[in-house]
Order: sequence, then C-alpha cells, then structure tokens
Amino acid sequence: MPGGDIVHGDALEIAPTLPQGEAGLVYIDPPFFSGRKRRNRKDGPEYDDRWAGGLPEYLGFLRNLIEGVRGLMTRNGVLALHLDWRCAHHGRTELERLFGATGFVNEIIWSYKTGGGSKRSLGRKHDTIHVFANGPDYVFNQLKEKSYLAHRYGFSNVEIHEDERGLYTLTNLRDVWDIPALRGNQAEYTGYPTQKPLALLSRLIECFTRPGDLVVDPCCGSGTALLAAKLAGRRWLGIDAGEAAVAAARRRLSHPGR
Ligand SMILES: C[S@@+](CC[C@H](N)C(=O)[O-])C[C@H]1O[C@@H](n2cnc3c(N)ncnc32)[C@H](O)[C@@H]1O
Repeated sequence: MPGGDIVHGDALEIAPTLPQGEAGLVYIDPPFFSGRKRRNRKDGPEYDDRWAGGLPEYLGFLRNLIEGVRGLMTRNGVLALHLDWRCAHHGRTELERLFGATGFVNEIIWSYKTGGGSKRSLGRKHDTIHVFANGPDYVFNQLKEKSYLAHRYGFSNVEIHEDERGLYTLTNLRDVWDIPALRGNQAEYTGYPTQKPLALLSRLIECFTRPGDLVVDPCCGSGTALLAAKLAGRRWLGIDAGEAAVAAARRRLSHPGR
C-alpha cells in the first residue's frame, strides 16, 4: 500500500518546505470561522475556531493558506476547499482570484441531516467543497450514482436495476452529495471535533485522482482524507497545527489492516 507522512506544525510554514509540484489533489478543510471552541467528549481533544481579529484575520489566514499550499500542486493538480455557509462565498472569490474563472471545476454540495436548527431560518444542512484545477488536463473520473424510478415504463435503451429500495438506472454523479454526517457511535468516529465522514473523502479522491497520486491535506485533523487516500491506493501527506489532531491521525493511519 502506498505510504505517507503526517507533519505537526503550521501549514503556512511547513508547506513551502515540502517538495513542490507533486500533489495531484490538495484537500483543505480549514476552520470554518464558527467562532466556537468545541470538545466532543469530556476528556476529548479541544478544537478552537475563534478569531480575535474577526473576519479580516480569518480571511487573511485562508488566503495565505491557499497561496501557501498551491505550490505543492502538479501543473494540472486539483484543489478542493471545504467550507460552510459562513465563508464558502469568500473561499470561492479567493479561488477565482488565484486560479482564474477558468480554473473552476465544481461546487460540490455535501448535504446531510444532523439534529438541531433555527426557528428563524431553514436548517443549514450542507457544506460546500469548491474544486479548482491548475490546468485543463486535470484528472476526472466519471462516477455513477443510482437514480430511482417511479416505474419501469418509458425507458427503452437504458439498463434498469433493482435493489431493496426499488428500480433504478445508473446516471453520472451530480454535484450534490447526500452522505450522512458522522455519528458518535460509528466505528470510524475518533472523537476529534469536525471529523468528516470517510465516504465523503473517498468519493472526492476517487473523482479527482488516480492510484499512486499524492493527496495532501494541510489541515488534516483526525486524518480522514489521508485514510481515504491510503485505502484507495494513493500516497498521502498530512499537516496539522494541533497536537491532538496529529496524534489522532497517526493512530488512525497506523491501524493494522488499513
Ligand atoms: C475542520 S478541522 C479538519 C478536520 C478533518 N478534515 C477531519 O476529518 O478530521 C481543521 C483543522 O485545521 C487545523 N489547523 C488550523 N490552523 C492550522 C494551520 N495554520 N496549520 C495547520 N493546521 C491548522 C486544526 O488544528 C484542525 O485540526
């Protein structure tokens, strides 16, 4: 299985010291500007997403981070920036400034159903992953998804399949991904706040990389993207400024049988 590494430190300082121009995919899941400090378990790791300097400080960080890791990408490499309603629009603007409008590949909506909500707005139940490419010859693997049918009639030249939910055809994967958010009782849950589901990162990596490609995650947290890369036969490199994140990611990636 292809190998990898996890480096402890500030991605802004570490990224320029790493070999440049080698990553097929850079996935960035930075703090979202939530203004909160979180701990999922009483004795679990703490996650601090508060910014004394407010939005200007946060946007400065985001800009420096994207610029700092861009050099790691290959000439046709792909960058995927994961944010939510708070700053996804700022992220898109920043990426267009850097890559140009022609660098745009996809705006992926990760849709989930978690508890809680507001009485004054619709439930905010999606994150956005902006995908931009350095050049026109980026890797793209067309994946398929099931499209369920109300009935069998009216389809002459498509193959119809059936599973426990009913009849379906296979269509090209859309940019809205319904993937359940991680729950505390799932085997993959590490206790690290903000951990993303493995299924989400596995799909992203499958779409935009080939076996053997290098996947870099400069804010790797518990290492979800790194594990997805490893399981898919890609090389992986993670960075995180938090000791608890690095410990969680190293534990996960060194798990025998994975
Ligand atoms: C949203 S979490 C990532 C969660 C991860 N995708 C997972 O599935 O576990 C963001 C991470 O960015 C890290 N981080 C924040 N600022 C950083 C910096 N300057 N350099 C490296 N990591 C940073 C935090 O420690 C945190 O682990």
